[in-house]
Amino acid sequence: MKALAVFPSRREVRIIDHATPQVTGSRQVKVRVLEVGLCGTDREIAAFDYGTPPAGSDYLVLGHESLCQVVETGPEVRRLRPGDLAVLMVRRGCSHPECLACPAGRPDFCYTGEFTERGIKGEHGFMTTFVVEDESHVVPVPPALREVGVLTEPLTIAQKALAQVWEVQQRLPWACHGALEAGPGACHRAVVLGAGPVGLLGAMALVAAGFDTTVYSRGGEHSDKASLTESFGARFVPAESRSVDDLAAVTGNVDLVYEATGASRVAFDMLRLLGPNAVFVFTGVPGRKAPIEVAADLIMRRLVLHNQVILGTVNAPRQSYEDAIRDLGVFLDRWPGALRGLITLRVALDEGPRLLRERPAGIKTVVVPQ
Ligand code: BGC
Repeated sequence: MKALAVFPSRREVRIIDHATPQVTGSRQVKVRVLEVGLCGTDREIAAFDYGTPPAGSDYLVLGHESLCQVVETGPEVRRLRPGDLAVLMVRRGCSHPECLACPAGRPDFCYTGEFTERGIKGEHGFMTTFVVEDESHVVPVPPALREVGVLTEPLTIAQKALAQVWEVQQRLPWACHGALEAGPGACHRAVVLGAGPVGLLGAMALVAAGFDTTVYSRGGEHSDKASLTESFGARFVPAESRSVDDLAAVTGNVDLVYEATGASRVAFDMLRLLGPNAVFVFTGVPGRKAPIEVAADLIMRRLVLHNQVILGTVNAPRQSYEDAIRDLGVFLDRWPGALRGLITLRVALDEGPRLLRERPAGIKTVVVPQ
């Protein structure tokens, strides 16, 4: 079967012929890959800055944001049947007995760094026709999400972040009197940095949780990104014409920042303006660039005097996949046009290598393997 692979030692990205996997274990599931999202991590791997082929292979099949259909199940598989839609999880735990997280089912918090990630680190990914996977890493998706289910994985990043925010904020009186039915973020203000797929899906999750939400991004006041953002009830502030200080004047006191750009300049500028008792969540991985100057004393002073929390978060557990699938259903009910509008380009597998090099305009590019 065809697959899109990266050969790091030869610095090549191309379509290859890859062996079709078979079900060999009783708890395994074979899926046909319907769609695979392209993200910044894939671009980094295709630029040979990141990514590791499986042991013994000179190439890595790319792709970790999937939507699949089950075609075959082992005899002991209980939760899935042929025909079901499903999303495959990305990370597999390390086997070190001293790792506290992996044996407890939380490889997203792996201590040793020796986890593997499908399509990223040590295991082939999903940019191909068939994949075989243990049932524990396959999450069912309802048929109503056929068009948008490929957005599950990028939304898991926000789900894991929010689950941590709720836990962290139990340290103080945070819930608003009389506004609880509007969601756990009611009467709080959130800023999202970046209007890529992770940022916009995060912004939808924040609006759904009741936050007054502002997205700060390049894109222009009258851009498609701006109108898409406004269509689901968030504010859009264009980074080209408004500074981070202007942004703070528009939003007022900021209780939560969800950073989804990997741009350190904007992030540390925003950190200066974080409000009392607020949480700043970092999700973006910056590229290798020259060091920047930061207002370290001011930031440190405010962190202490305002009880602020800085939280970095990566990857996600099964619970976040289930939460993301539930929320995609909510978003599709409330904002069908905005949610569908996040997928701006669908291309065949053969187009993949070119699209990894060129950065197409729009929001999310999805590869359709067949
Ligand atoms: C993926 C995560 C992964 C991270 C680091 C991201 O693009 O969404 O699942 O842990 O890359 O490899």
